[in-house]
Amino acid sequence: MQVAGTPLKVLIVYYSSAGHTRTIAEQLAKTAQADLEELRAVGEPPGTGARHYFWALRRLLLSQKPVLLPVQHDASAYDLIMLGSPVWLGTFSPALRSYIRTAPLAHRHVALFCSYRNAPGSAFKHVSRMLRASIILENTLSFLDPVAAGTGIIAIRAQRWVHELEISLSGQAANRL
Ligand SMILES: Cc1cc2nc3c(=O)[nH]c(=O)nc-3n(C[C@H](O)[C@H](O)[C@H](O)COP(=O)(O)O)c2cc1C
Repeated sequence: MQVAGTPLKVLIVYYSSAGHTRTIAEQLAKTAQADLEELRAVGEPPGTGARHYFWALRRLLLSQKPVLLPVQHDASAYDLIMLGSPVWLGTFSPALRSYIRTAPLAHRHVALFCSYRNAPGSAFKHVSRMLRASIILENTLSFLDPVAAGTGIIAIRAQRWVHELEISLSGQAANRL
């Protein structure tokens, strides 16, 4: 990604249980030349079977905050952090919310994306409330069943979204001059 001819350092932090959000994150990483950070929780059952489903449901219903395995990238070293998650019960996954609570995201530019099966609901609104100290970009990317849509469509939407973010960041840079 570039703003006014200057390359931006972009980090994509995401959680994905069944791989849908991962397909978007990987395409965004190619398009934006970004680093990727996949979140996993301590004690999270592998795969997407019944054990994993009930593990996820328990954390959602009890509003539990899973402890994350150590991350590899320091968000404070990046100009823009993209945060992506599946929509779970109308909000972002507990792992992503754990990350938001602990990562150095204050005063940093943040952009949000999600994958979903029925409706994204107010997931972005809910997460934005947790990110009050960050500079949240208005353009979001919500993707209905990206695996079914296919890599061609994911690539087109990823390119379009990254372009929109570049325009938005260029506008903010121009306003500061
Ligand atoms: C526990 C759980 C809760 C979910 N809640 C919602 C929901 O509220 N709205 C929705 O549209 N999809 C919901 N889904 C579907 C996922 O958002 C969708 O399948 C998503 O693309 C999965 O992404 P992933 O493969 O990256 O994990 C839910 C899935 C699970 C496992």
